[in-house]
Amino acid sequence: MTRKVKVSAPGKVILSGEHAVVYGYPEILSAIDRRLSVEIEETGSDLDIQPIESRPFVEYAVEVIKTKLNVSGLNNLKIRTNSQIPLGCGLGSSAAFSVAITAAFFGFLNLPRSLKKINEIAYEIEKKQHGTPSGGDNTISAYGGFLLYRKETESFKVFSSLKTKVFPQIFLINSGKPEESTGEMIKGVKDFVLKTPQEAEKIFKEMEQITRNFLRFLSGEELNFGDLITINERLLEQLGVVSSKTKLLIQKIESISGSAKISGAGGLKDNSGIVIVYHEDPKVIEKFAHEGNLDLFRVKLGERGFKNEKC
Ligand code: MEV
Repeated sequence: MTRKVKVSAPGKVILSGEHAVVYGYPEILSAIDRRLSVEIEETGSDLDIQPIESRPFVEYAVEVIKTKLNVSGLNNLKIRTNSQIPLGCGLGSSAAFSVAITAAFFGFLNLPRSLKKINEIAYEIEKKQHGTPSGGDNTISAYGGFLLYRKETESFKVFSSLKTKVFPQIFLINSGKPEESTGEMIKGVKDFVLKTPQEAEKIFKEMEQITRNFLRFLSGEELNFGDLITINERLLEQLGVVSSKTKLLIQKIESISGSAKISGAGGLKDNSGIVIVYHEDPKVIEKFAHEGNLDLFRVKLGERGFKNEKC
């Protein structure tokens, strides 16, 4: 019988602290109920990868995994990727891929499933994609739930699973795929930090304050979730990661008493990817999206990290 394994990993949203996290400030992430799966099967032929567009990234990931695990060969594999996570929109599709393929190899090679090791290797794969990521995206995809995450140094990251008392009901609106990659957006913020360090530090510090308020909200304190979202969005706008088009969409949501923010790297030129939307009356948002013909979907927060799937 040929060996076959299938593992899935979740996408994510960032409630607070994206970009600031690259500079050592904390962020809060949640895994969502949209997943990506990787299936590995032994075949008699050469490396067979589907879908074909994923080939360069899969090949690179396999090389990283083989180097890190100190294994050779493994050239006769069939690798299949299947995703419910829109690509390049801030929902952590590449992190979910990095985690799922690494965990699938651990399963395929019958290695003990060390969450820590899988996450470390997934981070190496992520670096190829994004340059200098914080490692938050792969960590939430590996561990799942809600995390408070902080990158102290390149080799030292601290995070804690949050025992959430409230699960805010949010919607996501896809404002469209940004023209820029995550790596380019990180680079844009770096230029801003280098040019105006004091201004950037002020924004990051305010963002840290908001992240703490999100933490208090999630642990059951009475704070206005919508207000936190709005303040967070304003800070991201000041950082220069939200396009005029997306700002307009967010203003419209605010004009019907809702709150919205981008989630993830954002985008400045045209679209900014996924927007988190909150309203005390979800029907108002459903009507708004319907009338504007917008791509709206509801997501569950706090979902499981990577897991085995039936082949
Ligand atoms: C991307 O999902 C989040 C950023 O903060 C980058 C990172 O954490 O690596 C923009």
